[in-house]
Amino acid sequence: MEPVKAAIIYYSSTGTVHNLAQAIAEGAEKAGATVRLRKIRELAPPEAIDENAAWRTHVQDTADVTEASLDDLAWADVVLFGTPTRYGNPASQLGAFINTTYPLWSQGALAGKVYSAFTARTTAHGGQESTILALANTFYHWGGVIVAPGYTDPIQFRSGNPYGTSHVSADGPPNDVALAAARHQAHRAVDTAAALKAGRATQETIPR
Ligand SMILES: Cc1cc2nc3c(=O)[nH]c(=O)nc-3n(C[C@H](O)[C@H](O)[C@H](O)COP(=O)(O)O)c2cc1C
Repeated sequence: MEPVKAAIIYYSSTGTVHNLAQAIAEGAEKAGATVRLRKIRELAPPEAIDENAAWRTHVQDTADVTEASLDDLAWADVVLFGTPTRYGNPASQLGAFINTTYPLWSQGALAGKVYSAFTARTTAHGGQESTILALANTFYHWGGVIVAPGYTDPIQFRSGNPYGTSHVSADGPPNDVALAAARHQAHRAVDTAAALKAGRATQETIPR
């Protein structure tokens, strides 16, 4: 069977979610997936970015990261979405990308894939769960198979978020616990996608 294809599609203003996305990519690769790491196109006006030095620096530092396209969604068996929390919701930049998916959705091309989500926010209870759950609304509409990390590994009892990896950016860049949780989340999502892929390959050989 060909390897599972994993798309990691994330938006990040100041790098926290970017760091998590890199750990997610590592976990997916370790689980045997072929990985595409894709950033969401920046839509904020330059004057807004220039008001925040960390934002401007991150834009420059990630200039060589390929932007996400609909082809990445169509290609993938499993998609892991990352976004900072914006008032308890996903960033509008990611929302704008999701709003371009109608052509794929209308063909049923988003159904049956595995989806999972991760996030970052500034404060401890600043909306990480609501952000991930808000993204899940989209996954339901797509007919996706949502794979959350739950408490399926000891690292989850340390990171503490069964909905998806999250990190409090006020504590600094993602620490070893958050990065390990991200790797675990990706590994589990890829494992599930691999099982689905293998099962579907078997079904295709059975006459209906
Ligand atoms: C418009 C806006 C809204 C935000 N809303 C929240 C929020 O509801 N809760 C929170 O804890 N942090 C909030 N934040 C902070 C970001 O979620 C936080 O800085 C995040 O970790 C940044 O991730 P990044 O470094 O990947 O861009 C907000 C930031 C902005 C700019």
